[in-house]
Amino acid sequence: MAAIITARKLTYSYEKGGTPEDQNAADRVNNDNNGVGDVGGEVIHAALRGKDAAGDDIHAALRGVNIEIQHGEFVAVLGHNGSGKSTLARHFNAMLRPSSGVVTVAGFDAADDKNAIEIRRRVGMVFQNPDNQIVASVVEEDVAFAPENLGVEPDEIRRRVDDALKLVGMYEYRTHAPHLLSGGQKQRVAIAGALAMQPECIVFDEPTAMLDPRGREDVINIIRRLRGERGVTVVLITHHMEETIDCDRIFVMSDGEIVKSGAPGEIFSEVELLRSVGLDVPDTVLLMSELNRAGWSLPLDALTVDEAAEAISLALASV
Ligand SMILES: Nc1ncnc2c1ncn2[C@@H]1O[C@H](COP(=O)(O)OP(=O)(O)OP(=O)(O)O)[C@@H](O)[C@H]1O
Ligand SMILES: [Mg+2]
Repeated sequence: MAAIITARKLTYSYEKGGTPEDQNAADRVNNDNNGVGDVGGEVIHAALRGKDAAGDDIHAALRGVNIEIQHGEFVAVLGHNGSGKSTLARHFNAMLRPSSGVVTVAGFDAADDKNAIEIRRRVGMVFQNPDNQIVASVVEEDVAFAPENLGVEPDEIRRRVDDALKLVGMYEYRTHAPHLLSGGQKQRVAIAGALAMQPECIVFDEPTAMLDPRGREDVINIIRRLRGERGVTVVLITHHMEETIDCDRIFVMSDGEIVKSGAPGEIFSEVELLRSVGLDVPDTVLLMSELNRAGWSLPLDALTVDEAAEAISLALASV
């Protein structure tokens, strides 16, 4: 498997009082850092915690992140509020440029503006708020929006739109008005819009955060199918551990750094670490890991109460 996304010593900094959309500050630091060269991450961090040339405070939202995501992988990024997840995600489709370090997407250097379009063709994004992602007043027109902008042939657009809407289960709603749909349905339309670009990778930034349980389940099931049936590389950003259970790898972020990565089973057993970085560990996982500490060997991926009860009774039966 080849890597689709790599980040090496990725640092992203901003001026205090700026907004995440305000990139000028980061650009300024970027220029300053060019003189620093390839120094160790710690030196860069120290510099970024200090002042810039104009004497303004500089803060880093990402501090020396190293990550490599392979084609076809399903990875999750877990982390508390403000840990840097969205900032990292925005580097994956060239919405942000690194202050220092190197990001490549499908072989393109993400620091070079000339590559932004090529990168965005290959990496789609789905955000938290479905309302902010719908641009047209009819579902199918919304899904067609991006391929139309790219100049895709009308027949091909029709095929892509129908296919994407069928995949997310919204084909029957193709002529409906998006604003009359539920949050979960809108989010499914937003996913169809990303799919219609035929991207190699889709980055989901907390796609279920604003949805009810039903909408959440629908969206998570679609994400699984994308990976399973379409081979799309998936990056899922979330604070919900239970959404990450069947991904290939989990990256845990805290304070702009990746503090741990591994397979779900490995990460789920680090209950203390997860709590120490402010993540909610499901009660079932907590119970199972306490029991395992007391000598049991229970699966940590029995997440629902029923699954946990079944795993425990199975273990009891074999005593
Ligand atoms: N340009 C900027 N100006 C000011 N603050 C910024 C800027 N960019 C990032 N930040 C700050 O950097 C930190 C990381 O932000 P980011 O949005 O990446 O976190 P997150 O993990 O996605 O959080 P959440 O779970 O709330 O979505 C936050 O404290 C945020 O306020
Ligand atoms: Mg975020």
